[in-house]
Amino acid sequence: MDQEKKILFIGDIIGEVGRNVVRDVLPKLKKQYQTDFVIANGEHLSERVGIEVDKLHEMKDAGIDFFTTGNHVWREKSFEKEIAKKGMPIIRPANFLAKYPGHGFRTITTPIGRILLINLLGKEGIKEKVVNPFKKIDTILKNQKDFDIAICDFHAEMTSEKVAMGYHLDGRITAVLGTHTHVPTADERILPLGTAFISDVGMVGPLNSVLGVKSEIIIERFLSGSAGKFEIADGVGVFNSVLLTLDKNNKVTKIKRIDKITK
Ligand SMILES: [Fe+2]
Ligand SMILES: [Fe+2]
Repeated sequence: MDQEKKILFIGDIIGEVGRNVVRDVLPKLKKQYQTDFVIANGEHLSERVGIEVDKLHEMKDAGIDFFTTGNHVWREKSFEKEIAKKGMPIIRPANFLAKYPGHGFRTITTPIGRILLINLLGKEGIKEKVVNPFKKIDTILKNQKDFDIAICDFHAEMTSEKVAMGYHLDGRITAVLGTHTHVPTADERILPLGTAFISDVGMVGPLNSVLGVKSEIIIERFLSGSAGKFEIADGVGVFNSVLLTLDKNNKVTKIKRIDKITK
């Protein structure tokens, strides 16, 4: 009997383009890999930044079970009210310095066990004021004991900070998965003490863009310093994700990048 457990984690989904790519790619992937649980970073679910609750439900209907977020979580003001509602399948970074509604981690009861999902924001190169993420995760793990699987979305800019977090949590949780840069890294591996790690999962959005935004706008910004209004690019889509395989004892046996290009 196949007792393997499969968890798919999808990088930042960007606006309508990203949502369409999810609808196109995810059902086939779920079937192909027989996934048990699907998590995605949803900090751009509305358009360029922020979350609208109808878009979240739309993506839940498309097959995503739970969402993490990042520095852009509050850009749609309405979401501050929505996130506090009971049963919302989404968390926000646990280490904001300011007090915000919602939760920074959740233990989710699933058919493959209790999944402790944690969201942390990096300190380096991130504008938002945060509590030290290394100390914050220590406090969380000291108090949370009732889980079978634990996954941390470390939403951070710097690879050094992300790699350090991987080693900080090695052997203590199931996986440390980086997000935020929108560029997937090729360093997915299982660390010496058994934790699955990747510096950045990537994104779901327009391939021919600068991190999702029309490239000409960003090039102009670098040339002249003037920031034109950011607009999401269109055209060919990209889907970046990682698939975690766990054995029946919840030990990770594999982390595999699954990347797709859509027409
Ligand atoms: Fe993002
Ligand atoms: Fe971000």
